[in-house]
Amino acid sequence: MEQATIPRPTAAPHSGRLPGSRAPSPVQALRYARDPLGFLIRLQRSYGDVFTLTFPFFGRLVYVADPALVKELFTGSPEQFHAGEANATVLEPAVGPNSVLTLDDAPHMQQRKLLLPPFHGERIHRYGELIREMTRREMETWPVGEPFALRPHTQRITLAVIMRAVFGVHDEERLARFERLIDDFSKRVGLITTFPALRRNFGPGSPWPRFLRSREALDEFIYEEIGLRRAEVAAGDESHDDVLSLLLQARHDDGSPMSDEELRDELVTVLGAGHETTATGLAWAMERLLRTPRVLARLRESLAAGEDDYLDATVKETLRARPVIVDVARKLTAPARIGGYDLPKGTFVMAAIAALHYREDLFPQPEEFRPERFLEEKADNYAWIPFGGGVRRCIGAAFAEYEMRIVLREFVERAALSAPDPRPEKVRVRNITLAPGRSTRVILERPCA
Ligand code: HEM
Repeated sequence: MEQATIPRPTAAPHSGRLPGSRAPSPVQALRYARDPLGFLIRLQRSYGDVFTLTFPFFGRLVYVADPALVKELFTGSPEQFHAGEANATVLEPAVGPNSVLTLDDAPHMQQRKLLLPPFHGERIHRYGELIREMTRREMETWPVGEPFALRPHTQRITLAVIMRAVFGVHDEERLARFERLIDDFSKRVGLITTFPALRRNFGPGSPWPRFLRSREALDEFIYEEIGLRRAEVAAGDESHDDVLSLLLQARHDDGSPMSDEELRDELVTVLGAGHETTATGLAWAMERLLRTPRVLARLRESLAAGEDDYLDATVKETLRARPVIVDVARKLTAPARIGGYDLPKGTFVMAAIAALHYREDLFPQPEEFRPERFLEEKADNYAWIPFGGGVRRCIGAAFAEYEMRIVLREFVERAALSAPDPRPEKVRVRNITLAPGRSTRVILERPCA
């Protein structure tokens, strides 16, 4: 990756007001909703490294789009930069109060320490065969010779993997019930996370009570699974290598096991944070590859030659050019000077992932889909940040990249796909992710090899 010298943060205070659009907040929200990636890129190009965006309900957010400032945010004191509090505003109704996503300080580190080992680089390799099998099974359902949306299929793959690898569910009937419950929960959760004002009972048919009912049904299933896995572990059954079975054996520093409520919240966190994101990343990878024949051809050749590095670079370039998560938040627990601006306690400071990934000085010709940039140099921790960073960096990053590599290899080696419409798909907001506007429309030219 061509990497320019990282500029130093400005130490001198700014006297003026923070740069940013003066349009009313609903107008800013509308512009963001219409074209989230383009909007953030334009804001960075117009206003520079620090700018504001104001949303209804969430208020003024301060974005930083400079590696040195992102480094300050990621490596600064976690007590001062609260990610949990910031995430909780959006996610707590779904993931709960014990989630690694919504906690801060010591309780956050405690949960993180328990959750990291099952997702460690080496450990996840035991799921490779399962990922391949789920991919092949799903590919058999693709229609031949007619356009279809790929994203629902990538999501069925990532969901099938999480239900088995994380929860340890293998019984077909229970898998089908689990999938229905997750589907119902996913349908209800988007409105609740996006519009906090809807978190009130406006009548039995309104979004909040419907969401609560679907959460209760999902939780009931998850508690049943926790009970089943616990009984298996207690009986000395070592055939299970799912994440839940590992978490049941994990211990806090004081020797106590995780409570059922902690387990439920972490499992829903992994489910929520893990399957739609990876599925969307995969859909983007194919969307980009089908519009960049040179890259697709080189990827095919490199795989045929038994090489993995171009595949890895393609995954990285996908997550640069189409970051699934557009920004990450930290809430200031005390006043701080950032980029020379004095910000009061309570300010939400956001690392502008999308804007950073399109800085010409960091990624030359950023509009070009060119995996080669990641062959030339290692990804920089504060310029390439699709998984956030510091003590809050995505716990599933290695898992997600590993899964993307395996699935993508299957797609590229075994399926002759083309795009019915050669125009790039628009970037659309889907819950808290950026997804291809037409869910990656493809045609399978002939049955998969
Ligand atoms: C392409 C797929 C994925 C993307 C783009 C992604 C992105 C992110 C981002 C941006 C964050 C916030 C980091 C920060 O605040 O600095 C995050 C956190 C997190 N992600 Fe992922 N993620 C992906 C897949 C996964 C998977 C597969 C899992 C689980 C297996 C997972 C579990 C988590 C967890 C538990 C956190 C919270 C970490 C903490 O607060 O300490 N993610 N992810």
